[in-house]
Amino acid sequence: MSNQFGNFVIGDTATANSLPILKGSIGPDAVDVRSLLDKQGLLTYDPGFRSTASCQSAITYIDGDKGTLLYRGYPIEQLAEHCSFDEVAHLLMHGELPSAEELAGFRKDIRDHNLLHDQVLSFYRGFRRDAHPMAVMVGVVGALSAFYQDAQDYSKDADQQKAAIRLVAKMPAIAAASFTYSIGRPIRHPDNSFDYSSNFLQMMFGKPSEPYIVDPVLTRAIELILILHADHEQNASTSTVRMAASSGANPFACLSAGIATLWGPAHGGANEAVLTMLEEIGSPENIPNIIKRAKDKNDPFRLMGFGHRVYKNYDPRAAIIRDITRKTLAHLGMENSPLMATALELERIALSDEYFINKKLYPNVDFYSGILLRAMGFPSRMFTAVFAVARTVGWVSHWLELKQEGHGIDRPRQLYTGPAQRQFERK
Ligand code: SDX
Repeated sequence: MSNQFGNFVIGDTATANSLPILKGSIGPDAVDVRSLLDKQGLLTYDPGFRSTASCQSAITYIDGDKGTLLYRGYPIEQLAEHCSFDEVAHLLMHGELPSAEELAGFRKDIRDHNLLHDQVLSFYRGFRRDAHPMAVMVGVVGALSAFYQDAQDYSKDADQQKAAIRLVAKMPAIAAASFTYSIGRPIRHPDNSFDYSSNFLQMMFGKPSEPYIVDPVLTRAIELILILHADHEQNASTSTVRMAASSGANPFACLSAGIATLWGPAHGGANEAVLTMLEEIGSPENIPNIIKRAKDKNDPFRLMGFGHRVYKNYDPRAAIIRDITRKTLAHLGMENSPLMATALELERIALSDEYFINKKLYPNVDFYSGILLRAMGFPSRMFTAVFAVARTVGWVSHWLELKQEGHGIDRPRQLYTGPAQRQFERK
C-alpha cells in the first residue's frame, strides 16, 4: 500500500522502505515507525498524539467506539459490581485479582505504610489555608522524594514495589490532610480498623471529638469512585508519569508531575468545572443557552463533563456513577437535588442535539462525579484530589510496568518551523 510519500510503503511487504505492523492482543494495529528517521529521514507528526501509541502496555484497554473499558481484561462494570478497591488495585498493579491470602497480604502492606512521616505533616503548615488541595498535593507528594532513603534503588524490584505501596497507602491521608488543614481541623491519621475507602472518609470527615460512624452507602459510593477513576490507558497525567519515569526520576517526583497534569480542567479538573457549570446554569430553563454557547465556535466555552479523546460513545464509568449518584442522593434524602435534575436534563437535551450526536460527544467520567462528591460532603476543590487518590493506583501500575520493561528515555522530536541558521548582527 503506497501513500502520499510515493515509495514509502506501509505494510508487511518486505522492501527496504516498508515498515512492520505491530499487533497488540486487541485493538488497532500499529505501524512501527522507529526506523523511519534513520531509514527514510522522515518524522511522523501527531501533536496531541491522536494516532500515536507511545508505548506497549498490558494494564488497561479502552474501545472508544464501543464504550468499553477493561482493567487487565476485566470489564469495568464487572469489577465495579464485584470488587473492593484494594482488589482492583492489586489487579492493576500485579496483573491478577488477588487470592484471599494475597489480598490479606496486600491489605497488610497498605496498613503498614499508610501513616505520614511527622515531618511531612509540617509541610502543610507552609501552605495558606486557602491553598487549592491540588497545589498542596503536588508539593507534598513531590517532597516525599526527600524521604525513604531506605529503599531508593529503583532498579530493584523490592524497592519499586515498596515505593508503589507507599504511594497507594499514603495518598488518601495526603489528600484528606489538604482538606482538614484548609478548614482548621486537626490532621487525622489512618485508623486501621477501617478498610481503605472508609479510612479515607474518616480522615476527611472524622472529628477528634467523636467516633467516626461508617455509613456503608457512602463507603460504597467512594469505593466505586476510586475503582472507576483508577486507570485509563495513556491519558495525559499517566503519560506525564511515564515520561518523567523514563528519565529515571523517582516515583514520588513522577507522581507529583502526574498530579499537576491531572489538575487541568481539560483532564481531571473537569469534575470541579462541571459543578461550577451546573451551578451557573442554575435551573433547567437556562440549559438551551449553555448548549448554544457550547456549540458556538467563537465561544471558548465547552460543555464540561462532555466529550472524550477516546470515547466516541457513552463513557461506561459515567453510567455507573450516574446510578450510584441517584442511589446515594436518595439515601441522603436529596433525591430532589436541583444539581442532579439540571445534569439529567442537560444530558437529555445534549444527547438529542445534532451537534453532540455528529461529534460523538457523550458524558464522561466527570459529568456526574462532582454531584455525588458534593452530596457526600466533599467541597468542589477536593474533587480532583479524590481523582488523584484513585489514579495513584494507575500511575504506580504504569510506573512499575515501565521500570520492569527497562524503557529508555522518552524524547520526542519536532517539526521545526523557526528561522533557518543565520549570522549574528547587532541591530
Ligand atoms: C478526563 O484521557 C483520558 O482518558 C482522560 C480521562 C481519564 O480517566 O484519565 O478520561 C479523564 O480527562 C475526562 C475528560 C474531562 N474533560 C472534560 O470534560 C472537559 C470538556 N471536554 C473537552 O474539553 C474535550 O472533549 C476533551 C478535552 C475531553 C477531548 O478533546 P479532544 O479529543 O481534543 O476533542 P476535540 O477538541 O478534537 O473535539 C472534537 C470536536 C471539536 O469541534 P470541531 O473543532 O471538530 O468543530 O468536538 C468539540 C470540539 O470543539 N468538542 C466540544 C466538547 N468537546 C469537544 N464541544 C463542546 N463541548 C465539549 N465538551
